[in-house]
Amino acid sequence: MLLLGIETSCDETAMAIVSDGITLLSNVIGSQIDEHNRYGGIVPEVASRQHMLSVLPIFHEAMASASIDSKDLDGIAVTMGPGLAGSLLVGVNFAKGLALGLGVPLFGVNHLEGHIYATWLEDQTDPGHMPGFPLVCLLASGGHTELVLMKDHKDYQRLGSTRDDAAGEAFDKAARVLGVGFPGGPQIQRLSGQARWLEPMPRAWLEGSLEFSFSGLKSAFIRRVHALSSGFPAATHSADASEHSSLPQAELAAGFQEAVVDVLVGKTLMAVRQHSAKGVIMGGGVAANSRLRQLMWDKSHVPVFVPQPILCTDNGAMVAAAADFLVSKGLQPSLDFDATPNLRLE
Ligand code: KG4
Ligand code: ZN
Repeated sequence: MLLLGIETSCDETAMAIVSDGITLLSNVIGSQIDEHNRYGGIVPEVASRQHMLSVLPIFHEAMASASIDSKDLDGIAVTMGPGLAGSLLVGVNFAKGLALGLGVPLFGVNHLEGHIYATWLEDQTDPGHMPGFPLVCLLASGGHTELVLMKDHKDYQRLGSTRDDAAGEAFDKAARVLGVGFPGGPQIQRLSGQARWLEPMPRAWLEGSLEFSFSGLKSAFIRRVHALSSGFPAATHSADASEHSSLPQAELAAGFQEAVVDVLVGKTLMAVRQHSAKGVIMGGGVAANSRLRQLMWDKSHVPVFVPQPILCTDNGAMVAAAADFLVSKGLQPSLDFDATPNLRLE
């Protein structure tokens, strides 16, 4: 089945052509970073307006780089939620119009399910490489931090989620405090690579629980940056500490990154033990983090499956991949669904 996958749940206008759920023919990701960077974070109204400007050019680019014609498509898959309401609306309505116009089936897909199925996309040579179920999925992005037990295709049990900030949101905040731009995760990772030591940071282990909390770490990080900047009065009130070259930016970033990654890995492996899982899947933008990937690979005694970084962050390919697998599990085409900002996985 040749599917067009459409993703507009947040700040990427992304479309991809995927064959049989695993083979990528094209993958176009239109980023809005420049539009949001000046505000230090995503502005929902700006995001939906940008999606409206981008959907058509991105669609043409996805078709052209796959060298196919729209009449070759067997169907369309679109993220229906969770995400920003205005952003989802643009993608869902574009997809409905296109499906009606082309006379092809349309499938509404859960964004989190997309992040999970990006893992299947990755391996184009050996579709049988996945371990047997159950799998523990760590989904960590700007909006979510969730541990999910996947007992089979389409059979999920939520084990724990964040009580406050998502991991990606915490990365973004830390980068903002250091004045190094948005999105924060890649910047914190880059700075961490230059660190000579790790600035000590607390971890909220929430003993025995599979839930997460990152707000305490975030506050501790802000207090530490302000304390270290105290010789420089402007910094104590400024969100931008980059002007103070004496601040150990890299060491602060590395200490912060280690604290987040440590907890993500620790809790994921605790879930693996508790549920005798046969493997770990990671997805979402934070799964692009090289330190997280390394530590999970080093510490896990079961296989760890994680898409290449470009398929961890939001993309249309994961949406098409999820639809393809779920059709074989009974997902029906429909034009009768709405953008659903609070859609859950189970
Ligand atoms: O999955 P995603 O692209 O969008 C959402 O569904 O939210 O995730 C975006 C999040 C941002 O918070 C970004 O800072 C974070 O993923 N991120 C990273 C890295 N790349 C993206 N966090 C840590 N390390 C990275 N290399
Ligand atoms: Zn995402």
